[in-house]
Amino acid sequence: MMISLRDIARTVTLADGSPLHILKGVNLEVDGGEYVSIVGRSGTGKTTLLNILGMLDKPTSGVYEFEGKNVVKMGERRRTKLRGNNFGFVFQQFNLLPKRTAHDNVVAPLMYAKGMQFWQRNTLAREGLERLGLGERLDSMQQHLSGGEQQRVAIARALVRQPNVILCDEPTGALDVETGAHIMDTLRQVAQEQNAALIVITHDLAIAARADTTYTLADGVLHRAVDIQQMVEEMVES
Ligand SMILES: Nc1ncnc2c1ncn2[C@@H]1O[C@H](COP(=O)(O)OP(=O)(O)OP(=O)(O)O)[C@@H](O)[C@H]1O
Ligand SMILES: [Mg+2]
Repeated sequence: MMISLRDIARTVTLADGSPLHILKGVNLEVDGGEYVSIVGRSGTGKTTLLNILGMLDKPTSGVYEFEGKNVVKMGERRRTKLRGNNFGFVFQQFNLLPKRTAHDNVVAPLMYAKGMQFWQRNTLAREGLERLGLGERLDSMQQHLSGGEQQRVAIARALVRQPNVILCDEPTGALDVETGAHIMDTLRQVAQEQNAALIVITHDLAIAARADTTYTLADGVLHRAVDIQQMVEEMVES
């Protein structure tokens, strides 16, 4: 198993000093080539969970094994290296480098790729942007790109190092339905080509339903969603 979370909890302290138990006992297993979607209402802890999966945050308790190694006990340097070599992130807020071009943003993660020449990096970045329909926007500055274009740059950036795990937080939040569906197809194709795990947080149930496995995050735990209709009802009721 590539990713294995067992009984993961995450508690933070609020401004008034009281504890907030965001995650209470999350269990999740994801293998290479698998496509998992996670839905849940705002504030249920989806981003918190994604940050833990991507080793940007540590759980308060529980076990996280990545390819059989316990990540929680690992030192910061090893975790950083593991993260850089294995994970691609599409953040909810895009997090692009301001006042840089689309191309600069996508090439940035390759700056640390050893043994890769300047032109190779540029080619990879350009091809990635072209694949996401941004071949005409390579030299456009971040601040001149539309929200949906920025989102696609963020996706190209996440994929450029051919990660083993692609973590996406609302990757179609700024896109129209048609473009969103197309981008999800691309993400899925890329994941399959590389046998990468694809983990997608989304509010779009149509997108969620197309994953191999769909989970709902509620009350600090993940529930396996049995069918889409049930998911819709759960989201409306809770
Ligand atoms: N470091 C922190 N300190 C205090 N509260 C936090 C912290 N991190 C997250 N929270 C709170 O925990 C809850 C879960 O946050 P999180 O960002 O994971 O939600 P989410 O499911 O991603 O929501 P959304 O769908 O709106 O993006 C929120 O109520 C948030 O305010
Ligand atoms: Mg979030």
